[in-house]
Amino acid sequence: MNVINLEKTDSMVNNYMAELRDAHVQQRRLLFRENLRRIARCMAYDLSKTLHYAPREVRTPLGIRAVRQLSDRVVVGTVLRAGLAFHEGFLDVFDSADAGFVAAYREEGSADHISIHLDYLAAPHLEGSTFLLVDPMLATGGSLVAAHQAFLRAGHPANLHICCAIAAPEGIARLQEAFPGDDVTLWVAAVDDHLNENAYIVPGLGDAGDLSFGEKLSFKP
Ligand code: PRP
Ligand code: URA
Repeated sequence: MNVINLEKTDSMVNNYMAELRDAHVQQRRLLFRENLRRIARCMAYDLSKTLHYAPREVRTPLGIRAVRQLSDRVVVGTVLRAGLAFHEGFLDVFDSADAGFVAAYREEGSADHISIHLDYLAAPHLEGSTFLLVDPMLATGGSLVAAHQAFLRAGHPANLHICCAIAAPEGIARLQEAFPGDDVTLWVAAVDDHLNENAYIVPGLGDAGDLSFGEKLSFKP
């Protein structure tokens, strides 16, 4: 798996990331979601430079112009619920993409003992697609690995890009294990230090789902 870390280049992504992490600024929920969305738009734009394009002609009011347009069939898949704002940013750029959703949540626990619950899958046909699996937080990696497995029920993509805002080294290692080849790319906007005993990214930003939508209650099935 290739890893591309946008933080290594100075850009506005680093400004949005700073606001996202700031314990004071992040209390403004609309701004928190908007920052996730802005980071996603920037990441999607960079990622778009690696895709395939084909020549076409477009008719303007004054003539015909040769252009190049995306020829990959892009599908954006996300993990509910923290992934929603991030997902919107990708759809802002890939405006004709199909979208897929899987619901997953972590049974809170210690970093080496956390189980993932998956209970909803809505996905378009993925066979042969360029699949962008997007989730702002890559902590243990358990959610993304489980989500990817679930999405495979809809077919095997030709290309896989995994996109996250903040990644922990432990999560990157877990994905490297799951995707040892260089045909998968992980895009991140920052790599942080480590996971704490509750599998939260340190320094991270806290709980992305709660900051986006409010604290959730716990329901036992
Ligand atoms: C967050 C995030 C990821 C997951 C990452 O979701 O959106 O899906 O944590 O953690 P992992 O890499 O250890 O699996 P969370 O489980 O907090 O659920 P939520 O979206 O409902 O808030
Ligand atoms: N999910 C979050 O929202 N934050 C973390 O730090 C880890 C998982």
